[in-house]
Amino acid sequence: MDVAALRQSWAQFCVAGPEAAKYFYATLFVIAPEARTMFPTNMQYQQDKLLSALGHIITHVDDERELTAFAQRLGADHRRFRGEDQQGRPVPLAEWHYIWVGQALLATLERFLGPRWTPALRAEWAAAYELVARLMLTGAAEAERTSPPYWEAEVQWVQRRRADVCVFTVRPNYLCEYLPGQSLPVQVPQLRMWRYLSPANAPRADGTIEFHVRAAGRFSTHLVRKLREGDQLLLGLPVGAALSSYDRSQLPLLLVAGGTGLAPLRAVAEALQQGPGRATTLVVGGKTPDDLYDDRALRELAATPPAGAWRSGAGGGWLRYVPTVESGWQWQGEVGTAGQTAVRLGPWRDTEVLVCGSPEMTRETITALTVSGVPPERILVESYDQSLYPPLASAAAAAPRDFSWTGVR
Ligand code: HEM
Repeated sequence: MDVAALRQSWAQFCVAGPEAAKYFYATLFVIAPEARTMFPTNMQYQQDKLLSALGHIITHVDDERELTAFAQRLGADHRRFRGEDQQGRPVPLAEWHYIWVGQALLATLERFLGPRWTPALRAEWAAAYELVARLMLTGAAEAERTSPPYWEAEVQWVQRRRADVCVFTVRPNYLCEYLPGQSLPVQVPQLRMWRYLSPANAPRADGTIEFHVRAAGRFSTHLVRKLREGDQLLLGLPVGAALSSYDRSQLPLLLVAGGTGLAPLRAVAEALQQGPGRATTLVVGGKTPDDLYDDRALRELAATPPAGAWRSGAGGGWLRYVPTVESGWQWQGEVGTAGQTAVRLGPWRDTEVLVCGSPEMTRETITALTVSGVPPERILVESYDQSLYPPLASAAAAAPRDFSWTGVR
């Protein structure tokens, strides 16, 4: 396979940016109008995710081990997307779905590469695409043996903790295994859109999962305003490797959370409590005390001794919970953003740090901690921007990156 030709033509193609993505979907829906219902009504969010992923994978087609692992995982995950048969009944993705996407891809490349699209280049792209598609199909077939395509999960209880924040628990129809710190794709069937949410609890014997949601877009606003006990949601395969990799070291742990970014960090803290414990500080920031929507549960967790034998050199508890707010009437606790307070409680040089919150909070916290001397490689952060790959326009300029599930959700 001429990987250099694939890479060069992909870089030239990416200059077209979002226009190429629009053309790709328009072509796909002309080739296969029945594919339209598989994608969200509003394609703004999907943007060029599928297309940029495809190009990125294909241009890394020479790294066989990574390619196989990644494409098979993506194929397994794609089992949550269903086609329809002639009677409108859901069917799993099959070879013909991949052929539609392949045809739309080649037509889009042809349209935007113009005279640079030669028969030889076409043959390269077709062969590389077929390799990836086959790996995805194999990944899907193999995953059938170990996990359902998706889980149906019934909402057990819903609590509105603030006008814009809700906490709810679901019970999946089969045990849904995930690592504390990971996220799950979640679908509200009426909305036909998937979004990632992080379980806020360590895996439980009864399989129930708690989620925390703040109303920000259509999906989260629907959950906060409309979710009721008994509603059904769908869950996909868990993703994310950064926040779940905390247990590789035994260094003290600093968890810094903002808003509902608390969820995966609470799951991590709960998992530690179920073991022998580990010296852990959990800093949870809000603008005002009202933002500390999970305060009671966190105080209870901090007061619960680890299930395993906990040996604290200093004789203290295993979890130090530190709520902090930027301002608040008669507030007795720490004042400042989560990042500022975390730095004040330091130094954290021999500590592993997990940060989760809004992009601004995450940026600010990482900067504050690194300036205070925490080595950047000790700070674990999951990327929640939904972009596995550089968007088309910037991919043209970006140097080739490694791809893996690290930092992905
Ligand atoms: C080699 C081929 C393919 C690649 C690399 C690919 C890649 C991707 C990626 C990266 C996403 C975003 C996943 C996420 O946000 O969680 C995605 C979503 C999706 N893909 Fe694929 N895909 C491929 C083939 C297909 C095929 C054949 C179909 C069906 C015709 C399909 C249907 C979908 C749908 C329905 C979504 C979700 C859209 C949404 O709800 O936002 N994909 N794909």
